[in-house]
Order: sequence, then C-alpha cells, then structure tokens
Amino acid sequence: MDVQKLQETARELVAPGKGILAADESFGTIGKRFEAVGIDSSEESRRAYREMLFTTPGIGEFLSGVILFEETLHQKGSDGRPFPRVLEDQGVIPGIKVDKSTVDMPLSEGEKFTQGLDGLDDRLPEYRDLGARFTKWRAVITIGDGIPTKSCIEANAEALALYAAFAQQYDLVPIVEPEVLIDGDHSIERCYEVTEWMLNRTFDEVYEHGVELSGMLLKPNMVISGKDAAQQTGVDEVARATVECLLRTVPAAVPGIVFLSGGQSDLQATAHLNAMNSMYEGLPWELSFSYARALQGQPMEIWGGDAGKVEAAQKAFYHRAKMNSAARSGDYTEDMEEQAA
Ligand code: 13P
Repeated sequence: MDVQKLQETARELVAPGKGILAADESFGTIGKRFEAVGIDSSEESRRAYREMLFTTPGIGEFLSGVILFEETLHQKGSDGRPFPRVLEDQGVIPGIKVDKSTVDMPLSEGEKFTQGLDGLDDRLPEYRDLGARFTKWRAVITIGDGIPTKSCIEANAEALALYAAFAQQYDLVPIVEPEVLIDGDHSIERCYEVTEWMLNRTFDEVYEHGVELSGMLLKPNMVISGKDAAQQTGVDEVARATVECLLRTVPAAVPGIVFLSGGQSDLQATAHLNAMNSMYEGLPWELSFSYARALQGQPMEIWGGDAGKVEAAQKAFYHRAKMNSAARSGDYTEDMEEQAA
C-alpha cells in the first residue's frame, strides 16, 4: 500500500470547489432511469449518454472525479479515446464501482446485503490497468418496522471495510458508501440514530481491517426526514443534524465526506450541501458531493437519446455541477439558478 499515493488521490478528489459525478448506474438502474424519460437502454445508448456527460466543455472546473460502471470503463468516445482517457484529458479522475449490487438479506425481510468480495482481488488490478484510480462500494440500510437489524448493520459494515482494505492494497482510494435510505415515513431523529449506528460500526470495522483513514473517503446519506414523513425538515436543520452526526462518528483523519443525493431534488441536494459549508467553519474534513441523480436528472431528460440535444443537455449538466461547486464553499444562492436560466 502506497499511503502517499492514496492520500494524494483522496485529497485531489475533494479539492476545493470540486466534487464527484456518480455515473456508475448498473444495467438495472440505468434501465429504470432511461425508461422514465423514454430512452431505450442499449450498450450504444448508454455509451452515447455517458459521452455526452464526460465531454461537456469545461466540466473539469467543477468535477474532480467520475465513478464509472464496469461497462463504461471499457467503452470509448466517438473519437476512439477510451473513456478513462477522455476524463483524464478533462482533468477528471476516473473511478469504478466495484460492488456487485445487493441481494435480499437472508432471513430478514426488507433488508439488503451488498455482494462483490469474491474475485475482487483479481478485478482490482484489471481496473487499475484500465485507468481507474479510485473505487466505490455501496451498502444499503433500510429503515422500517424492526429494521435495520444488528445483523444487517454488521454484515454490511464488515463488507465495506474488507472492500476498502482490498482497494488500498492496490493503491486505489476506496469510497466507502453506507447509505441509509430516504425511503419511508420515519423522522429525522430516526435517520440520525440509524446513520450514527451504521457509521460507528463501519469505522470500527475500518479500524479492525487496518484501512488507512487518510487514504479513503466516506460517502454517506444526509440526515434527513423519510421521503413520506408527514413532517419534512428545513434546510438548516438537515445541515445541522448531518454535521453533528458526522462529528460524532467520522475520524478527523478522513480527508473528505462526499454525500450521495439519495432521491433529494437537485435543488435540495445543492442547498443542503451549501448550508453545511456555510454554517460550519473549521471542520476536520472537506464536505463535498458525489451525486448521481441530483447531477444527471435534468441533463438526462433534455438529452432523451437525441444527438441533436447534446449541447443543451451539456449546458444543463455544466450548470448543475457549477451550482454544487459553489455549495462546496457555502457561496450558493438560489438567485444563481435564475441567472443561468
Ligand atoms: P444518488 O446521488 O442518486 O443517490 O447516487 C449516488 C450513488 O452513487 C449511489 O450509489
């Protein structure tokens, strides 16, 4: 493990004013997202869509990295350059999702377990040879009646830590993503409790497995009311609950925390990140973004599979990335949305 290299990559990924685009949707997920906006999912449509994102002029001003799905790592742009090269040419670091998605947790209804440790040791050096410099693994924790269970929390925390250790062994920065889902009608307090539990267990396992904290990033959910909760919490309260939870669970040696958007609207995801960065000074870690839906929603809809819409879709993508870049320093205001419209 080359600690210096890991630290350099991790710090580059959370460089001021920059964040990460998660474009690592699995076949199933991209299929659902495409279907919702009337795009047929094929190898070529997925390639063309992602090329639209990656070749957006100037996107490297706001993006430090992009997380790819395995298929995309092997694909090429129209000019023949492999996608990892296209990204590097934009000043953006290519990364790769390495988990193999979730299965139902055995004997525990409503819970998920993330698979992918088998064969990981063989796949990682291949990904590295193809140009990936960082990796991601997502665990999913569901809030509901009697869940999450201790067994689900512990099994997923251990898999996350083992994955991170494998990744660091190949000098690939691990992004550890324990996502507590927004689905459900639970309160923000319940979300806080479960997020605190999962993060504590995750960092226990990270310690036990010898993972170098300064060479990893955390990708958590924000602490927020359930999507169907009668009472929805305001922006400042989400920001406060999230930072207070992280202060109690995430070691200061971790260089950055890159949030997922998790089903929040584009504007909410930007406003929440902005509030955290404007309300708190001197936090031990960078607070940044690693959004999929909150960066891609509009551009995907505008593009719609139409080569004639590439420029308009890229404009929307550039704008969203720019807004989130402003939120990195707490300088975002809603007026900035209108100015660009
Ligand atoms: P969302 O921002 O859409 O939650 O996706 C982030 C991600 O990478 C989920 O694994």
